[in-house]
Amino acid sequence: MTMKHWKLEIDEQKVAHLTIDVAGKNANALSGDVILELKKALDQLSSESPAAIVIRSGKSSGFIAGADINEFETLNTESEAQDLIGKAHEVINQLDDFPATTIAVINGFCLGGGLELALACDVRIAVNQPATRLGLPEVKLGLHPGFGGTARSVDTVGVVKGMQMMLTGKSYSAYQAKKMGLVHEAVAERSLTKTIQQYLDSPVKKGAPGMKEKFMRSGPGRLIMSKIFAKEVAKKAKQEHFPAPYALIKLFKEHGGSKESFLEAEIASEASLIVSKESRNLVRVFQLSEMLKAKGKAVDYKAERIHVIGAGTMGGDIALWCALKGMTVTVEDFNLEALAATVKRAVKLYGKRFRGFDHLATAARDRLIVDSKGDGRASADIIIEAIVENLDIKQKVFAELETVAKPDAILATNTSSIPLEDIAAGMKDNTRLVGIHFFNPATMMPLVEIVSSKTTKAKIRDQASAFCVQIDKLPLQVKSAPGFLVNRVLMPYMLEAASMAEEGIAYETIDKAATDFGMPMGPIELSDTVGLDICAHVSDVLAEPMQLHVPKSIHQKVEEKKLGVKSGEGYYKYKGRKAIKSKNFAKPTAEMQQRLIDKISLEAQRCLTEGIVATDDEVDAGIIFGTGFAPFTGGPLHHNKYG
Ligand code: NAI
Repeated sequence: MTMKHWKLEIDEQKVAHLTIDVAGKNANALSGDVILELKKALDQLSSESPAAIVIRSGKSSGFIAGADINEFETLNTESEAQDLIGKAHEVINQLDDFPATTIAVINGFCLGGGLELALACDVRIAVNQPATRLGLPEVKLGLHPGFGGTARSVDTVGVVKGMQMMLTGKSYSAYQAKKMGLVHEAVAERSLTKTIQQYLDSPVKKGAPGMKEKFMRSGPGRLIMSKIFAKEVAKKAKQEHFPAPYALIKLFKEHGGSKESFLEAEIASEASLIVSKESRNLVRVFQLSEMLKAKGKAVDYKAERIHVIGAGTMGGDIALWCALKGMTVTVEDFNLEALAATVKRAVKLYGKRFRGFDHLATAARDRLIVDSKGDGRASADIIIEAIVENLDIKQKVFAELETVAKPDAILATNTSSIPLEDIAAGMKDNTRLVGIHFFNPATMMPLVEIVSSKTTKAKIRDQASAFCVQIDKLPLQVKSAPGFLVNRVLMPYMLEAASMAEEGIAYETIDKAATDFGMPMGPIELSDTVGLDICAHVSDVLAEPMQLHVPKSIHQKVEEKKLGVKSGEGYYKYKGRKAIKSKNFAKPTAEMQQRLIDKISLEAQRCLTEGIVATDDEVDAGIIFGTGFAPFTGGPLHHNKYG
């Protein structure tokens, strides 16, 4: 039998080895074709009666990253979606019912449809390495598992863990997966053969669920549990914005008592989500991230040594992030305390990221080298400046850098408000300077603006974008103009909120207007989080070119040393990082919401018209990944066009 995406071999023990290696792709995804081939293989194996089937991936990138979501886009109606999912169900059920022992060997990503396939196997063995991640992240795409994963995950790890895994979309390491019962073993690569053999010799027997589990699966138990789940979900997501988790809870409530009924009902529920507007928009957001990554791969470029100047809030985090991602990093600051603070933050983050893999945490720490004298400047592939926001000082630094840096080194600034043309004015070769503008906190924010001045060479812009992809960030190419894209769209929105506050509208009402729309945080709380001193500075810089009205209250608060979260008070008072908000405030009106969101949409449109960002998709991508703009809308421009 010839197959494109699977390879089937039967060894002398009569064990069938079924390897998935999807043709022409870096990662395995389950498209209709791939599933159909699996069916052919299973049909053939049914007649050969193998002793066992071992399923693994032929790709080093991982097991299976999920269903092929690009295929979902081609489904126009619910019945087309039901048809596709129904066929996948048949094949996965066939695997589940296979008479011989079935073993999934999991390396790297095992997500969504990949984990659903593995859950249909009798045994799951995960390779214990940092790259191994297991999870059902469908909610992030406005879906729930659709290849039998709803019923099988609950069956495998129990109601609470199974539902939580699906409702949060969290992924787990091999060790965590073993602890929660999602896999039978988490072993080092070298022990795989021995472990597989153990399971071939003595297959597992599934234990019966305990009393508590039985109750949670009963009618009254499901009723109680669904209420608890719905309450938890409601804290984070509104049903009208994110229907998928609510659909999953309903599915569990109505069908969670029997595996067969759960499986059957999953098909219709998933099909209705696939064609929903919210899911289509969330899939679009995923595709936008892929688009940004693809743009970052326009040139073949790999940086090895990074030098960061300035170990403050931004520089420190940029340096430790690059070392985490495998680069050798020198971080320069004349302030030894800033360097020490960077190392402290690095050790904390590496300990968390590499939990259970101490040698990797130590290796990352070793790659981060403190450098009070700037010795690393001469050998770096990329130098990122993140010192004080002062033109004279930055100009001086870049004039010096030109004389010591390698001729092909990228010279980058993290400035948020100084035009690149001004910084480059003191350089002999102004084509070398590019902006690599990270957002705060740099370790968390996915977007990086790659800023080109009128003279920046396209090759350098593209290399800087490639570097961002290398460190798992999303590069957005923008032109040097006040505020670039993200700060430019945020500032009028935050100033509008400040004006509304001056008109006497309660802070809580203003913030609720924005969060009701789907913003992750209201503009008043956002201003406090960014810091009112920074807001005042950025609004001063942008006021003239953008003809903005800057409400007095911002500067007033700064004079009163009310800087926001960092000083314990801004607009709100803070307990730690938590704003103390009143519960008694007027409900926001539709007009208030419109006032705020219009500011973002209008500015987004202007950025497109002025060519700050090349395409409407890139504008939407930048605003979603840079501000958290309501993702289920597909972005401000998409939302304006399609509602
Ligand atoms: P920061 O004040 O926290 O850190 C600046 C660091 O640079 C300090 O540790 C200082 O000792 C050091 N430094 C100053 N001059 C130096 C020199 N000549 N050589 C070596 N070290 C020097 O500042 P922050 O907030 O990290 O900002 C840095 C840059 O990043 C600025 O250009 C800012 O506009 C930009 N930025 C800041 C963001 C933020 O939210 N804080 C967000 C995005 C960009």
